[in-house]
Amino acid sequence: MAALIALSVNGMDVQVSVAPSTPLLHVLRNDLGLNGPKYGCGLAECGACAVLVGDTGVRSCTVPVGAVTGRSITTLEGLGKPEHLHPVQAAFVANNAAQCGYCINGMIIATVALLRSNPKPDETAIRTALRHHLCRCGTHLEILAAVREAALAPSDVAVAEAEETAS
Ligand code: FES
Repeated sequence: MAALIALSVNGMDVQVSVAPSTPLLHVLRNDLGLNGPKYGCGLAECGACAVLVGDTGVRSCTVPVGAVTGRSITTLEGLGKPEHLHPVQAAFVANNAAQCGYCINGMIIATVALLRSNPKPDETAIRTALRHHLCRCGTHLEILAAVREAALAPSDVAVAEAEETAS
């Protein structure tokens, strides 16, 4: 049965009328028009649907929307804008780290989550963080190069703090 559910998505407070058991991914895409997170497997296996809940990457295809009321949800759209990319998005663009692009949402979300918990990851930490994000095109070398480059850039937290100080 549908219920009114309050969410915080990309810094905006929104309400949706859906069954609390509805997967978060479906609400983001179908009700809120946020198509960054992709439907891949629907089984928490591929990572295409990843979003941040707080600073943690989660697989939104298997998270009931009723479980994330009151939590801060960030999708790919909430990280940066085309004219002002998030440092991780910029690193993926600079390294041509997409072929079909279907996995890239999950790769970027996983990288942001990694760098927020470990700003200077070593190669093992990078590979572990991305290990369960599937890319069928075989773009792994470019993706790894992008993550290494992003790890050298100022973190998004540092960038946001610098912007706040400047304004
Ligand atoms: Fe969610 Fe594959 S669609 S992990």
